[in-house]
Amino acid sequence: MTSRPADHPAPRIEPSILSADFVNMQAELERIADADYVHVDVMDNHFVPNLTFGPPMVQRIQAVSPIGLDVHLMIADVDRWAPGYAELGAFSVTFHAEATEEPVNLARRLREIGSRAGIALKPGTAVEPYLELLPEFDQVLVMTVEPGFGGQSFMADQMAKVAAVRAAADATGSEVWLQVDGGITLDTIGVAAEAGADTFVAGSSVYGAPHAGEAIAGLRAAAAAASHRH
Ligand code: DX5
Ligand code: ZN
Repeated sequence: MTSRPADHPAPRIEPSILSADFVNMQAELERIADADYVHVDVMDNHFVPNLTFGPPMVQRIQAVSPIGLDVHLMIADVDRWAPGYAELGAFSVTFHAEATEEPVNLARRLREIGSRAGIALKPGTAVEPYLELLPEFDQVLVMTVEPGFGGQSFMADQMAKVAAVRAAADATGSEVWLQVDGGITLDTIGVAAEAGADTFVAGSSVYGAPHAGEAIAGLRAAAAAASHRH
């Protein structure tokens, strides 16, 4: 069913189902079958002031989705909860830096189970402590809004953080994926791609479009055009 090659070269587009119709989730997943992965926002009304769903729902999404799952955990106590998402078969599991005392240990557990491991940085979280840890992670998520809600405005001041990760990755030959999440639209994706992002979450700009597949293709083309300008 997936029409993209298995290796998913950059730029990768990952629609966020936070903006989907939760009551018709299977049909909403089919709308984005041309995307690289589906971004699954798990919120606990504690780490962020909003609530979505937990393991039983994500298990069903995993069972019916035509594309792999990029799980974004906006929850506390990830040492307890994150491995379960890897065990149910998620392609990638990303947790926030503040949600564990031992991010490297948790990333190693996730990789052992068989998923990719990602670390997420909120707008107020410094990137420097994590730059030397890039080999421990498969993805760094730089939030371009305060986590919790879709439809917010892109924070261009986070591009310095994106550029810092890009520079550190390039300097060490790291193949870590550099993901941005929040406010990604046709107007902002080029800025993020120029700064060095290669993996783009888009919620409202895909699910709010009349044709999600066309929105995905447009975002992919805009990101590719901007990244080639380097
Ligand atoms: C926000 C979520 C995002 C959200 C993005 O906390 O992590 O994934 O769905 O939505 P848009 O693309 O509408 O900003
Ligand atoms: Zn997200």
